[in-house]
Amino acid sequence: MESSSSSSPFKDDILKGKVALLTGGGSGIGFEITSQFGKHGASVAIMGRRKNVLDSAVSSLRSMGIQAIGLVGDVRKREDAIRVLESTVKHFGRLDILVNAAAGNFLASPEDLSPNGFRTVMDIDSVGTFTMCHEALKYLKKGGIGRDISSGGTILNISATLHYTASWYQIHVSAAKAAVDSITRSLALEWGTDYDIRVNGIAPGPIEGTTGLSKLVPDEATNKIEEYLPLYKLGEKKDIAMAALYLTSDAGKYINGMTIAVDGGLWLSRPRH
Ligand code: HXC
Repeated sequence: MESSSSSSPFKDDILKGKVALLTGGGSGIGFEITSQFGKHGASVAIMGRRKNVLDSAVSSLRSMGIQAIGLVGDVRKREDAIRVLESTVKHFGRLDILVNAAAGNFLASPEDLSPNGFRTVMDIDSVGTFTMCHEALKYLKKGGIGRDISSGGTILNISATLHYTASWYQIHVSAAKAAVDSITRSLALEWGTDYDIRVNGIAPGPIEGTTGLSKLVPDEATNKIEEYLPLYKLGEKKDIAMAALYLTSDAGKYINGMTIAVDGGLWLSRPRH
């Protein structure tokens, strides 16, 4: 359960006193965001389907001196969302930050993808994100459970850049992440206005050492990607975590409804000819 340990450009108390719940926070990019939140002062709850993954993540976080709990749950089940949120607030007293990082993915052509396969990814990425936000509202809104009337919390949705154009064998994820970006904007408008909740997103590019990269991009293709990357390198999980700190801390307090691409500029690149 590794996490980049080198120094951070942010002060180590920017999330002091904050409580964050991260779906998919026990592995990959989600775990790096969790660790960096903890290292910058937050208490963290992580939600995931696999108890062994959560247990190992929590012990790793605690060994870094971070207050952490793991809660087993599937974002596709509304009762799990309700229970995990309740447990988080029962344990830590409040909720300030919700990160929706749980995602499902695989490569499939549209003709080989069953409607149930399409629906499964929509259910995890899009409906799951909405469900978590919906059930978290009573804790995140200004004056909500555990909060005073002066300010609301914030939501961060992890997206992708696949749907900015179109991506081969990713019709399901592209549709799901397009919906996530739309949810981000709608909630930013309505909940920003009514409840003082900021809602933003991050669209990661190819990040080394992630399931997304190993599952979706074969090694030969990874080498090719590097030729197209404006910054000519893969991203690090920490690049995503630093953007997450920026958006969820006061550094980003006037940002609402934005999904920031953190991909070295890959989404806009074309082969040189
Ligand atoms: C075609 C597939 C398939 C595959 C599953 N299905 N895998 N179809 N090719 N490789 C179909 C099944 O046939 C089934 O449809 C339906 O999807 C549900 O499959 P289950 O195995 O029952 O689903 P489940 O056990 O709930 O697993 C969910 C999952 C799985 C999404 C399929 O891969 C998973 O749990 N992934 C979580 C971890 C993960 O993928 N992380 C990567 C995140 S990376 P039928 O019709 O047969 O019933 C990421 C990056 C995005 O998100 C951006 C990239 C740049």
